[in-house]
Amino acid sequence: MKSYYITTPIYYVNDVPHIGHAYTTIAADVAARLKRLAGYDVFFLTGTDEHGIKNLRTAEEHGVAPQAWVDRVSGEFRRLWEVLHISHDDFIRTTEPRHKQVAAQIFQRLYDQGDIYLGTYEGWYCTACETFYTESEFAEGRTCPVHAGRPLEWLAEESYLFRLSKYQDWLLRHIEQSEAAAAADGSAPPAIAPLSQRNEVVAFIKSGLRDIAVSRSTFTWGVPVPFDPRHVIYVWIDALTNYISALGYPDGERFQRFWPADVHLVGREIVRFHAVIWPIILHAAGIEVPQQTFAHGWLTFGGQRFSKSLGVVIDPAALSREIAAESGADPDVAVDALRYFLLREIPFGADGDFNKPALIHRFNADLANDYGNLLNRTLALVNRHFGGQVPARGSEEGGDALLRQTAAQVAGSVEPFIDRLDFRAALDEIWKILSAANKYLDEEAPWRSLREGKPERAGAILYNTLEAVRVASILLSPWLVTATARAWEQLGIPAPLATQRLSDAARWRGLPAGGRVRPGTPIFPRIERPAAAAPGRSGG
Ligand code: MSP
Repeated sequence: MKSYYITTPIYYVNDVPHIGHAYTTIAADVAARLKRLAGYDVFFLTGTDEHGIKNLRTAEEHGVAPQAWVDRVSGEFRRLWEVLHISHDDFIRTTEPRHKQVAAQIFQRLYDQGDIYLGTYEGWYCTACETFYTESEFAEGRTCPVHAGRPLEWLAEESYLFRLSKYQDWLLRHIEQSEAAAAADGSAPPAIAPLSQRNEVVAFIKSGLRDIAVSRSTFTWGVPVPFDPRHVIYVWIDALTNYISALGYPDGERFQRFWPADVHLVGREIVRFHAVIWPIILHAAGIEVPQQTFAHGWLTFGGQRFSKSLGVVIDPAALSREIAAESGADPDVAVDALRYFLLREIPFGADGDFNKPALIHRFNADLANDYGNLLNRTLALVNRHFGGQVPARGSEEGGDALLRQTAAQVAGSVEPFIDRLDFRAALDEIWKILSAANKYLDEEAPWRSLREGKPERAGAILYNTLEAVRVASILLSPWLVTATARAWEQLGIPAPLATQRLSDAARWRGLPAGGRVRPGTPIFPRIERPAAAAPGRSGG
């Protein structure tokens, strides 16, 4: 069985999660669920990044001991992931002993082989990023290029440094080789995607890598440097090792099974840490490097990136509750709508503005109408004219073949889009089935066959339409976790949706005839009232 290992960044616990964190985590979840559907042995990791000055300062501001603070906020992340139906296989926290031990071990190894040395480091630092910036990177007035307007702090302290510069040529070669392999074989991933991010990273490497500070000596909230307890490991070096500590590096069974990672999914502001520093550390330590870092764009609100540090925040759980209240949908179905919307509306990789009217439009047009209503009206006809039993398949005629071919073609084409993390194209593809099925039902018009005294043909048309809903439901299940399970119940199929694979979607006429359908209330009731302003926006 082939394995698939996908990760999200581990999030800082300086404050509760917001929709920006949910965006990455939902994307990773959809990819993980789709690869499970495709039959892969999947490991999906997320977690929290709990050390460093940023978390420490927030705990102090709240008058809480740092461990108590990070326990609390890390719990908020886990709770939100439950609400959003995130199916991670593990949740790693950098304050756990299993992690600290690996971070220290890697650090020791790099020191023993001479890649880490004692010096002093001075520079301009953004605490929100936990990063030094050089003059060429400053935004106006020596402010942070990521956190608009935030002043940088001058830091100068004794620090261990890592010989990043030594590995510059290796890294460029590695990136090029991965790209040559990808060009030769479409299924091999380039080391950095999308191309815009790749170009930015390569230009940065070519401008010359400088050795970086990898320890701090002015506070103690971190993993102690094993050979010099006056220092703690720099929070980014500590954090990056989560991707292997969670697998039980070096001897764990999971490490053998899942490393190297298939993809580290990150926001574009942290692509350099993942695509420059992390592979170099791994390579220096003699560990295989991940297949790919994929840096997606920023979710913005009125053009401003969602960010606690910038004071622009939406709570995805509150937003889902609001959608549920406005539509009358089940709260879990409202979560599905949010999962769907975020990955349908914005091309993954580009920046995109969050807009609630657009969400409502998609809820009504795509989910309530194209998917939900297709199921409702077909089941209503089955109920009325066939006693609630899935009619017989009949022989193929009229538009039947086209619908079958569309479904088969789509079922076979979704996975490659997910391999490229092109969620939008994957959904567009799946929508071909729903559009074809809606058109089919209208054009084949089973009510006409009934009037003409051809009930078998009417039954066959309804059968094929339900069959298209079955196939679409399997394919949509990574996005619409609850709604597809409801649709499945309404179709009355004995085998649970959770047991289905992509191969079941690819098999036309898999719906058992004669089964009893169970029409219920609409899964996605239309939202009739005009959209209110987006919730939870604080400050600006
Ligand atoms: N702790 C580091 C990551 C360490 S990984 C070894 C960190 N944490 S963070 O809490 O700031 O999370 C940043 C990540 O959250 C982004 O890279 C992205 O995945 C996600 N996002 C946070 N806000 C976002 C948007 N407004 N838009 C898109 N993604 C967002 O950086």
